[in-house]
Parts: sequence; structure tokens; C-alpha cells
Amino acid sequence: MAADDIKQQIRQLLVERNAVLLAHNYMRDEVQEIADITGDSLALSMEAAKTDADVIVFCGVHFMAESAAILSPDKQVLLPRPDAGCPMADMVTVEGLEALKREHPGVPVVTYVNSSAEVKAHSDICCTSANATSVVRSLTDSTLIFVPDRNLGRYVAGQVPDKKFIFWEGYCPTHERMTVEAVLQKKAAHPDALFICHPESAPAVTALADHACSTSGMYDYCRKSSAKKFIVGTEAGILYKLRQENPDKEFILASPALICPNMKLTSLEDVLHSLQTMTPVVRVPEDVRVKAKAALDRMLAVPRD
Ligand code: 13P
Ligand code: SF4
Repeated sequence: MAADDIKQQIRQLLVERNAVLLAHNYMRDEVQEIADITGDSLALSMEAAKTDADVIVFCGVHFMAESAAILSPDKQVLLPRPDAGCPMADMVTVEGLEALKREHPGVPVVTYVNSSAEVKAHSDICCTSANATSVVRSLTDSTLIFVPDRNLGRYVAGQVPDKKFIFWEGYCPTHERMTVEAVLQKKAAHPDALFICHPESAPAVTALADHACSTSGMYDYCRKSSAKKFIVGTEAGILYKLRQENPDKEFILASPALICPNMKLTSLEDVLHSLQTMTPVVRVPEDVRVKAKAALDRMLAVPRD
């Protein structure tokens, strides 16, 4: 079937099912194009929490759809590719987290949303890359456990030097493939460009950045900046909207390795099939959901700095 026919059928089914299509900023261009809302993890969580739709079609990876199911238990949440996972989220288990908590009794756990519902359920508060600094600052405790992203954790620790962090050594394989050498090469080739990167990047890479922020933060930054050229240090899917919103500016991917295989799985055919069959549904057991929701709700209540 031609892409335009698939898109038309998707649009029609979205109306018939009273469904909303949410897509992360890393999705394939054509999936972003058809989405009702695109955004970073925080924006999509907020959208999932407030939508009036009966069905949420989540084009992203599993933990994102799971967050939508946690926040909106009365909605049906579809994840068109159930095999779209996040290796970083799989790097922390409840058993491992509980062992760390036993080593540090009474220390609050801040959990990056790139984690399973079970791990969230064993945490005090969640964060995304867009609000991690505000979340950490909102805590009255002087010490905290930060899981699973060691890079985001160390980035936030640099922003909030008065707190002591206990890190978990998880990481995003996609961002860690962006090397210092690759960035320096791009900087040498484009000396007039600003370098922006995601705080999931290795600390030595983030140290080279003019600005580090979430994916949606990059849109704001590039829109407002008077610079005309940017070296972009995050997953390649971000380029679609950056180029669309800023036709007068140039965007150069910092490394060809910045492709997340999981974020690239979802095709238009998968979205159509999901809406036709109303599968695969993402469900979270109620006891886990209630505890995980408490950690997400605490995050959503934190005002941004
Ligand atoms: P944000 O879109 O929240 O910045 O997250 C990046 C990411 O890696 C999601 O998996
Ligand atoms: Fe996970 Fe990294 Fe892919 Fe985001 S980009 S889904 S953190 S592997």
C-alpha cells in the first residue's frame, strides 16, 4: 500500500477509535508527521495524563507506553511495536535497586523515566531529562540514589553540587556511541556551529557542549538562538522537526552512530495494524501501577526551575 493511503487509513481509524497518536521526537520522520503530538518524555507523559481520548497509540519505546498506561488507567494504550524496548531501562532491576536501598537506608530514590514500571514502583520520585535538575533540587535530603542513567545523574550532580549522589552505572548505548573524537572532528569542520547534546551522553562529550538538554529543550534552544549552525548530539530522529522548524538554519548530526535501533522500529504499517487490531495493549498490574503512579505524580507536581 502506498504511504499516503496508509496515512489516510490511520487518520480515519484515529477518529473512529477516538484515539490520540503520541510520538517521541526520535521516531521515523513519517511517524512524526502523522502524530497528533510529538514531544520529549516529559511532554508525552503530561499529554498521556490529561488526554480525553479513549485510546493512546504510543509511538516510542516500551517504558513510555507503560508510563502512559500508569498515568491513564482508564485508557487503552497501544504500543505498535511491543519489541521496541530501551536497553538502558533494562539495566536496572527491582532486586538490584532494593539491594542498593538496603546499603543506603532512608536515602530517597530518583528514577529516570527510562525504567520499568516495577522499578518506578520501588522509587520515591521519577524524573525526565527535561526536569531532572528541578526534581533533585525539590528534595530536602542531602543524599540521593539516582537510577539508572549514570550520565544524566552525573550531569545533574554537576548542576546541584550541594547534594551527594549515589549512581547506578546504567547508560544509553546510542548516546555512548558518540565519541569525543567524533564531536571534535565535527567542531573542527564547522567552527561556526554550536554543539548541543543530550545529557545521556558521556560526561566528556557533554563537557564539550554549548548546551545540554532534553530533546524538546533542543527545539526551544535552536528556535531562540541567533546561531545559524548546530552540531546535534542526540538521536537522528530529532533532525526532522529541527529542520522543519528552522529552514534557515543548518543541523549536522554529531556522529553517524546516533541511531537508536529501538526508536527506529515503528513503521506506518505497524501503526495501522495496531489501530486495526487494537493490539498490542500495554498493561501494568494494578498494585505496581498505583505505586509507580505515585512516583510519576510526584515528578509531575515539581515546578520547573
Ligand atoms: P527525552 O526526549 O525525554 O529527552 O529522552 C530521550 C530519550 O532517550 C528517550 O528514550
Ligand atoms: Fe533508550 Fe537510548 Fe534508545 Fe532512548 S535513545 S530509547 S535511552 S537506548
